[in-house]
Amino acid sequence: MTTEPLAIIILAAGLGKRMGSELPKVITRTISKPLINHVLESAAKLAPERIVVVTGHRRELVEDAVGGDCCVEFAYQEKQLGTGDAVKSALPALQDFKGAILILYGDCPLLTSSTLVEFRNSHVAANATLSFITSRAESPNQYGRVLRSAGGEVAGIREARDCTPEELLISEVNSGVYLVDSSFLKPAVAALNNDNAQGEYYLTDIVSAAVREGQIVNAWLLEKSEELLGVNNLYDLSLVNRVLHMRNTKELIESGVIVEDPATCYVEEGVKVSPGAVLGPNVKLMGSTVVGRGAVIEGTALIKDSQIGEEAVIKLCTRIEGASVGERCSVGPFANIRPGSLFEPEVKIGNFVETKKARLKQGVKASHLTYLGDCTIGENSNIGAGTITCNYDGYKKYETLIGKGVFIGSNTSLVAPVAVHDGATVGAGSVITKDVEKDALAFTRPVQVSKAGWSRYKREKLSK
Ligand code: UD1
Ligand code: CA
Repeated sequence: MTTEPLAIIILAAGLGKRMGSELPKVITRTISKPLINHVLESAAKLAPERIVVVTGHRRELVEDAVGGDCCVEFAYQEKQLGTGDAVKSALPALQDFKGAILILYGDCPLLTSSTLVEFRNSHVAANATLSFITSRAESPNQYGRVLRSAGGEVAGIREARDCTPEELLISEVNSGVYLVDSSFLKPAVAALNNDNAQGEYYLTDIVSAAVREGQIVNAWLLEKSEELLGVNNLYDLSLVNRVLHMRNTKELIESGVIVEDPATCYVEEGVKVSPGAVLGPNVKLMGSTVVGRGAVIEGTALIKDSQIGEEAVIKLCTRIEGASVGERCSVGPFANIRPGSLFEPEVKIGNFVETKKARLKQGVKASHLTYLGDCTIGENSNIGAGTITCNYDGYKKYETLIGKGVFIGSNTSLVAPVAVHDGATVGAGSVITKDVEKDALAFTRPVQVSKAGWSRYKREKLSK
């Protein structure tokens, strides 16, 4: 399809008081990035000649969020006098531009580039001067209503506050996305007035102006109205985030990941999961997390900035952050794996185990109720239930070194800095403060006292 040059104006001057923040609304973060960056990404995929972002309230923050994106320019709207005035502020930057101008809102992050491409194709096919996207709203509330003649021709857009009770019943609404020929847009915007209920310059009035001039106007109905969701308050933001998670989850499913309950799977953009991995219910994958082929995340897990190796099993109720879990490891249920935990293949971490900066070599087992912090543990060592690396004296952190093939008996305290060398055994209940040499047995244990018949004596005495 022939495409004439394209410029994009993104309206982002609004304050967004209802977000409960003093920051410009468009820099509000979704699960992955600020609202405006979503819009810019979709916009950039259309390969426009120019992108102009209209800023207002605290514009420097918006400019920071957009960053050094070289093809983006900024226009400043001093006072928020309405959407028509916002576009007017952008036009000086496009003085020499001839072609189609796409107008988008910085607070509508879900519009995809593929929808925008379809919209542009329909504009070209209709040979229109002005196209705009409409949708069917179940409760059209404050949206502008699309007015049509008896013959179904578009006549204009009327803002809800300016509508008659009959007009309010119209369910076709204006989405705020327009594609307009530059030679029509410039004079049409210059001619806008603010003679309406809000005393604002309404961009919507360019539609009736085009109709009056006999220009071709194309109202393009978008069935997937979810894409038009704008963020005006925190509830809208939660709906947008839900859609973003769902999109990411759907993408994983389509690539071959098994997701047991898509409705409770929360996947941030940038997370990578290999085909054949299984994600159970209530799983949240964040940041730079990578999950390997055949790994199983049973459910109720939060995994952030971590690598999960192939065929590893992350059992129920586990939190993993800034860690690397090797192939065929088993972690959880109820484990807390904190930053700097590096597990080689086939490590087994059981219930109620916490690790932090713990480098565990292949085949290490810590199956129950243990804290392993600031330590290195050699191949195939077994850490008994209730073992604690005492890594902190209230001032500083210290390292524990455990060799390979070591057996640490249950309920042992390893008071760092301390080393237990290869092949050594530590008896249950010990408090180890000195290094244990290779292949030695070490234990600290009070002598057991046993008094014959004491229990029977007490029982009989108390029952009298
Ligand atoms: C606008 C449309 C309405 C449509 C609705 C869809 C007008 C007059 N009405 O209404 O028909 O159904 O969008 O969401 O256009 N902005 C500026 N400067 C301003 C005013 C707004 O940059 O002076 C920006 C806002 O930051 C926002 C966008 O323009 O991103 C839309 O403004 P908003 O006030 O939300 O428009 P609505 O009243 O919702
Ligand atoms: Ca709005």
